[in-house]
Amino acid sequence: MFSASLPTNRVLVAAVSLLLARLSCSSRSLPDIPHIAAYFGTKTRYEEVNPQLLRDVFSVNASVLMAPDTERCSPVHLTAVIRHGSRYPTVKNIRRIQRLSQLVRGEASRGPGGSEDWLRDIQSRWEMWYTEDMDGQLVMKGRDDLRQLAGRLATLFPSLLSDENLMKRRISFRTSSKHRCVSSVEAFQDGLMEHWGHTHFSEDRYSHVVDDQLMRFFERCRGYVEGVENNRSALLEVDKFKHGDEMEGVRRRTEERLNLPQHRLTPDLVEAAFFLCSYELSIKSLYSPWCFLFDENDAKVLEYKSDLKQYWKRSHGHVISSLSSCPLFHHIFRTLDKAGRPRRSSEASPEPASILLGHAETLLPLLSLLGLYKDQTPPTANNYQSQHGRSFRTSRIVPYAANLLFVLYDCQRGPRVQLLINESPVRFPGLESEVAPLYRDVRATYRHLLDGCDFHMECEGRSGGRGPNTEL
Ligand SMILES: *[C@@H]1O[C@H](CO)[C@@H](O)[C@H](O)[C@H]1NC(C)=O
Ligand SMILES: *[C@@H]1O[C@H](CO)[C@@H](O)[C@H](O)[C@H]1NC(C)=O
Repeated sequence: MFSASLPTNRVLVAAVSLLLARLSCSSRSLPDIPHIAAYFGTKTRYEEVNPQLLRDVFSVNASVLMAPDTERCSPVHLTAVIRHGSRYPTVKNIRRIQRLSQLVRGEASRGPGGSEDWLRDIQSRWEMWYTEDMDGQLVMKGRDDLRQLAGRLATLFPSLLSDENLMKRRISFRTSSKHRCVSSVEAFQDGLMEHWGHTHFSEDRYSHVVDDQLMRFFERCRGYVEGVENNRSALLEVDKFKHGDEMEGVRRRTEERLNLPQHRLTPDLVEAAFFLCSYELSIKSLYSPWCFLFDENDAKVLEYKSDLKQYWKRSHGHVISSLSSCPLFHHIFRTLDKAGRPRRSSEASPEPASILLGHAETLLPLLSLLGLYKDQTPPTANNYQSQHGRSFRTSRIVPYAANLLFVLYDCQRGPRVQLLINESPVRFPGLESEVAPLYRDVRATYRHLLDGCDFHMECEGRSGGRGPNTEL
């Protein structure tokens, strides 16, 4: 009996393991992250830029603070300009997703091989669950983005984002009035409280101020609104690329993968499918069947299209875009000036931290004004092939919860300042020899802006706004 049952068991075990292998295959033993996740432009998850967070959401690398060891530096102030966290699509994109899903469910069919599981999933399992009332609101994952960022920054700057500074309301919080930003600044404050072990939240636990003049300067700058935002020809390169060879290639390949009748799929709908993959990942951590429509090269083309738009709309493409951020620039330097000034011991200590919550549209003009991510050759509709090594990649610069930190240190030779973008050190353009240069050298580098950069003159002074950057 015993000797006979042994082989039977062996066979059984072998059969079961074969079955398990089959099962894990048919439930598609996929990595959890779509192969195109790092190319979603402003719809990229923060984790794609900092993958160590996928293992530990609170992991902090203290060596990013790089003031010179020899000068006994200690951080005395932090200004953080932060983008809101992951959010729902806006109404415009929800409508596109609606049209796309109707088209694909009604008219797409499987190819001759008929092996496209993902298409079956799209047509029979995937549900159109987005509704227009979601319009750009922060999702749960977006709250987590900000709570966790707050926790990490409190670990990195325990003396600035301290329990005492928080409780005594010495940290200032300003936000754009948009719902997703207000929710984000609340989540950030919750994150600090959780970090310091406060679990019973009082009714009036939040202390932020809504300030659109500071955080949504772009919509108040007439020269920008008329010259760029509402000016079709300012975004000519984007239009040309949208209908150019690279995008047409992606469009045609997507159409073929879906076996759609010719020319039913527009470039906007292709982009909607790409964004759908991004939303399902950033909102639900799902590997959506829509992701299979694109290979990595397609994703790079679509990323470039987004980058072109941001470059010509919000960045170096037109100087007025960066100049519109002058109020924010001045606000930050005034805060740093105050924090770095020598004081008598009787004077009140300066603000330890200033937390500013806004949008990608807030960060990009400011980063451009500071001279960052300015490649030698501007991206255009015709030079996609030569732009693979560009530094201007919005997927890396402004993912959800993107952040720009100014860290002011008190050092023996005087105050120093360091920039961090998405928690990595970045050097000031023109001062590359040091990671944390003397604050007075930084001021000297930006002298022309500190003495000028007047919002009213730049934004109202010329009715038509400025033309393209003449340095291009
Ligand atoms: C920590 O940051 C430093 C400075 O940016 C970097 O050189 C190092 O590679 C980082 N370490 C890890 C584990 O990411
Ligand atoms: C629109 O943009 C074009 C190209 O940048 C520029 O030449 C033109 O002056 C702008 N028009 C207005 C009304 O600002």
